[in-house]
Amino acid sequence: MCGIVAYVGNKNVWPLLVEGLKRLEYRGYDSAGLAVVTPGGLKIARTVGRVSVLEAHVEQAAAGAYDAHLGIAHTRWATHGPPTEANAHPHTGKTKSGHTIALVHNGIIENYATLKKYLTEKGHVFTSQTDTEVLAKLTAELYDGDLERAVQAALREVTGAYAIAVVCDNEPHTLVCARKGSPLIVGIAEKSYIVASDASAIVSHTTQVITLDDYQVVKLCAGPNDRLATGDAAGGPWAVEFKTTTIDNVRVTRDVQELEFDLQQIELGGYRHFMLKEIMEQPESIRNCLRGRIDLRESRVVLGGLGKYTRELVRASRFLLVGQGTAFHAARIGEYLMEDLAKIPARAEYASEFRYRNPIIEDGTVAVAVSQSGETADTLAALREAKERGALAVGAVNVVGSSIARETDAGVYLHVGPEIGVASTKAFVGQVAVLTLLALYIGKRRYLSDDVIRNYLAHLERLPEHVANVLKQSNHIRECVERHVHRENWLFLGRGYNYPVALEGALKLKEISYIHAEGMPAAEMKHGPIALIDEGMPVVFVAPQGSQYDKVMSNIEEVRARGGKVIAVATEGDTKIHKYADAVFTVPDVPEALQPLVTVIPLQLVAYHAAVLRGHDVDKPRNLAKSVTVE
Ligand code: AGP
Ligand code: GLU
Repeated sequence: MCGIVAYVGNKNVWPLLVEGLKRLEYRGYDSAGLAVVTPGGLKIARTVGRVSVLEAHVEQAAAGAYDAHLGIAHTRWATHGPPTEANAHPHTGKTKSGHTIALVHNGIIENYATLKKYLTEKGHVFTSQTDTEVLAKLTAELYDGDLERAVQAALREVTGAYAIAVVCDNEPHTLVCARKGSPLIVGIAEKSYIVASDASAIVSHTTQVITLDDYQVVKLCAGPNDRLATGDAAGGPWAVEFKTTTIDNVRVTRDVQELEFDLQQIELGGYRHFMLKEIMEQPESIRNCLRGRIDLRESRVVLGGLGKYTRELVRASRFLLVGQGTAFHAARIGEYLMEDLAKIPARAEYASEFRYRNPIIEDGTVAVAVSQSGETADTLAALREAKERGALAVGAVNVVGSSIARETDAGVYLHVGPEIGVASTKAFVGQVAVLTLLALYIGKRRYLSDDVIRNYLAHLERLPEHVANVLKQSNHIRECVERHVHRENWLFLGRGYNYPVALEGALKLKEISYIHAEGMPAAEMKHGPIALIDEGMPVVFVAPQGSQYDKVMSNIEEVRARGGKVIAVATEGDTKIHKYADAVFTVPDVPEALQPLVTVIPLQLVAYHAAVLRGHDVDKPRNLAKSVTVE
């Protein structure tokens, strides 16, 4: 998804904007651009491709070393119009007074066609195919000397989703931002403000932030304090001031929050890729996720964020779990957990399907939104749909203060730290761990005995050690992958709790190695897909010891009988499976309900090594975005 960075303050803005865009590169994009307000007017640079291309262009252009202190920047993930320089942001508009407004945008302006027709009739000349340019020109059309008011007026006319940053060459100390449905965070430093799509571009400047709710606008001013509002650069000490309103110009107050993580956490830390760092740091991220939530002595789970809703959760008639992609796979495991441990009917759905199928929400339904970013448009919309229809809304989200987190009635943060790699790994394990805790939290108040709970909690306490043992097999896994990485089609099979793990293993491989892979229940293979089996198709079985082990072994023999190459994830000490598999990755013996937390680890490494062996950009795979904030 696109990234926005904007700044107003006492530092030279060019290098700061470029650095901010680099920190957002992981979000995925196809082009980039920036605009700065200089004494000589607005300077704009836009390029297709990586931020480094823009950086080279800017360094050359800035040979004049503009001493600019106000600017906006953007990495685009095209929705309207292909990735070209003309479609790259910022987009501009000419005001009636001859000034220029520049604007960057994340989201979709749904009524852009109608507005474009109106603005064309008003004499505005469009130079791009984007919806965003319409918003830039509408703001310019409505500008009468006050940028904040013009932005408010323009946003009252649009429908759709937006996070925007706007500047005008007539107001060289003023930055105006707003959001609806797309993320935006405002960083507050001593003599400056920095605004970005997420905290990774802010944390090197400040950890003091405010977030905006939908339909809210923030006006940020920083400049010489004797003439801050007039915009004349008169020297003197810098002053800063900000104001938050609704798009109807009603003042609102926003509390300043402390960012939860520091720069070190988003640095590579010596690893070759963020994805590898995040896979390898899972013992630590699991510790952080479980910290303070397991009380072995009392055989109970402590989830403060659920507080006053405990009774509703325990008496729920049904759990509805929604998410997309990897988060959906975690939701699928949550479905098994709720029925197995909490003994409450449960169903996991793609958020994008749930929101449009006119769903039935009966009394006592609890909707759980599963999301790393907390900004996935479909998941946010599905949560709102469920709330509208009377469900209690619960979140299992990683990013603190994200849109989904803020719109739930209650929630449990993953606390796995920022996940930079586009392919979700530690967040998936965090989502499954939180859903496991939730199921035990409710099960304790329903039919689970203290002994049963204590057993689960004892295994969860050892989970970091269990995962660390699995991670030691990374070289062994790479050697196996090396033998099969040239194969263009893989199958991932599992049963019970490990069926969604098979789905997740297939997605991981697809999204970073670009190898086609399909996950399905192991039994389903006989109903058609077995026709695909030959020596050219690696088949990965998630086959730990458990209630369906013998059935999975039969499926393995069916694949072997047709010449298929079997790669197995198996329980430590299982000597039988070695006779049937070309490679075996072992996991510790844990209760079936906890198996996904360990069986997914080898599959993360399979995908990682395949992508590296194929020479792909592991952290920024083609076409993908870290957070899909458009529909
Ligand atoms: C997973 O590796 C992908 N990056 C993608 O499927 C992701 O899980 C999905 O877009 C949901 O994102 P979220 O968890 O931030 O809501
Ligand atoms: N819809 C806008 C465009 O296509 C913004 C896309 C984005 O979020 O990057 O330019």
